[in-house]
Amino acid sequence: MSHTVAPLKIGDIQIWPPLVLAPMSGVTNRTMRALYRPFGFGLTVTEFVSSNALAYGSRRTMEMIDQHGLEKPVSTQLWGDDPQTMAAAAKVVRECGADIVDINFGCPAPKVTKTNGGSACLRDVDRCEAIMKAVVDAVDCPVTMKMRLGWTQDDLVYVDVAKRAQRAGVQAVTLHARTAKQFYKGSADWEHITRLKQAIEIPVIGNGDLDDAQTAMARMRESGVDAIMIGRGALGNPWLVSQIRDLMEGRAVAPVPSAAERLGFCIVHYRTMVDELGEQRAVPQMRKHVALYLKGIAGAAHVRERIMRIDTAAQAIAVIEETIERVAGAAQVAA
Ligand SMILES: Cc1cc2nc3c(=O)[nH]c(=O)nc-3n(C[C@H](O)[C@H](O)[C@H](O)COP(=O)(O)O)c2cc1C
Repeated sequence: MSHTVAPLKIGDIQIWPPLVLAPMSGVTNRTMRALYRPFGFGLTVTEFVSSNALAYGSRRTMEMIDQHGLEKPVSTQLWGDDPQTMAAAAKVVRECGADIVDINFGCPAPKVTKTNGGSACLRDVDRCEAIMKAVVDAVDCPVTMKMRLGWTQDDLVYVDVAKRAQRAGVQAVTLHARTAKQFYKGSADWEHITRLKQAIEIPVIGNGDLDDAQTAMARMRESGVDAIMIGRGALGNPWLVSQIRDLMEGRAVAPVPSAAERLGFCIVHYRTMVDELGEQRAVPQMRKHVALYLKGIAGAAHVRERIMRIDTAAQAIAVIEETIERVAGAAQVAA
């Protein structure tokens, strides 16, 4: 079977398939990354980590940069507005196993932008450049950067920042094609991703609103990007990633699993989170995941409501098992 796209190369690291799991704070912890990676991600990225917090090395922060030592290659994402603090943080995450250090110039959340971090850096492109230079100088591994189009629609700085990245020695750029002020409104504008690919020589990773396999491949082809990054589309539906990998590897797309199989995997996800984080932390975190696995399933709203009120893993898993029995029974009747 011949591949339909080329591997992604970031520095000396060859990545197959060129499919990247988007960093998602509060979602893509090491447990979730380890569970989702085998579906077909060639590269996973940690949740963003504050460079200031790393200076204190709290247990929770160190947990955020851990990858079980198994996830290869893995990129660790950092945010902050001070070049020297970012450089020091990059050294720490490299020592802790990061194969790639990624710089966040994309987060629009006020708790980050109020201290000039994330997408707020795009308001000061000289600062962006200073941060990128400092991080590249600090580590012996590839440095990448993820950004939005700019702070506002009137100030689209992505080509300028990407050119500065290239000059600074950054080895790949991810573009989420929305402005910071858009948050998640409207749709990602892939025209800008095409423009960025034409403007720089280093690899470009396109990101935004890819939630079906055919569209993802079409976007990749049309924009000419070196890789695509998937976030929300894969949540509760990692089979999307397998389908994209099928297309990248020249195979027919595997059918999506039944609702019962999907919920069966949801239980595996639940139990793994409880094993690794403990019940007290896993139960609230799993509520949003369960809701996503339930998407499109008959009676999902009622099940979601019950899950939101439950405080123990055993009760939640019992509700999911009950739902599996119901949907499997309904499928038999329909057949
Ligand atoms: C809950 C959530 C948390 C996110 N956290 C991060 C983050 O830590 N770092 C980052 O660069 N982007 C973060 N993002 C943005 C995603 O990486 C991605 O750029 C965005 O969701 C668009 O891609 P999608 O349409 O495939 O979801 C987050 C998005 C979501 C929904």
